[in-house]
Amino acid sequence: MKIFIDTANIDEIRDAATLGVIDGVTTNPSLIAKEGKKLEDVIVDICNLVDGPISGEIKATTTKWEDMVAEGKEIAKLHKNMVVKIPMTKDGIIAVKELTKLGIKTNVTLIFSVNQALLAAKAGATYVSPFVGRLDDISEDGINLIYDIVDVFTNYDIKTEIIAASIRHPMHAVECAKAGADIATIPYKVLMQMIKHPLTDQGIEKFVNDYKKVFG
Ligand code: G3P
Repeated sequence: MKIFIDTANIDEIRDAATLGVIDGVTTNPSLIAKEGKKLEDVIVDICNLVDGPISGEIKATTTKWEDMVAEGKEIAKLHKNMVVKIPMTKDGIIAVKELTKLGIKTNVTLIFSVNQALLAAKAGATYVSPFVGRLDDISEDGINLIYDIVDVFTNYDIKTEIIAASIRHPMHAVECAKAGADIATIPYKVLMQMIKHPLTDQGIEKFVNDYKKVFG
């Protein structure tokens, strides 16, 4: 499973990139707003840190497909690794179809059903982003959506890649891998949690103590 980091924070991306396990980056309007900068102001820094797909979303206020296409073309110009993130709406699907014709990669976001994923893929989306955590938040089974999308895409050999998004904790990463998601996009905090285990810490402490007893 490929791992993307889900943040626009340069320090988090820089630190995560040192691990050598990050395959890409996803951002969204909320993550960009959190940094207090415009997308185009952070993208170059991000692209210099991670040599992989970088998702930059069109403005949240952009709703007409013609404007989405115009904005998507500008996002694509920022760097060769840019992927244009488009929300799952009727106009979004049209925009994905048009951007695909132009050879521009797209990531259809805010996906919460198999039908949405299927239509986005049929429009030519490079990636679809089903949101696991937000389904869990309303007592629905977010991981089950990943299994279902994987099943449908496998049935028809659909090449669109599934980015499991809205990852809330390390077990989401495990379950997305079990479900066969192509990618999980993971917040920095969760990525750090994935490294840790209390028995590992205890084992290291014992090794140190045993070593010091003999060698000081
Ligand atoms: O960036 C897309 C998605 O990962 C956002 O997740 O935590 O806002 O539901 P979240």
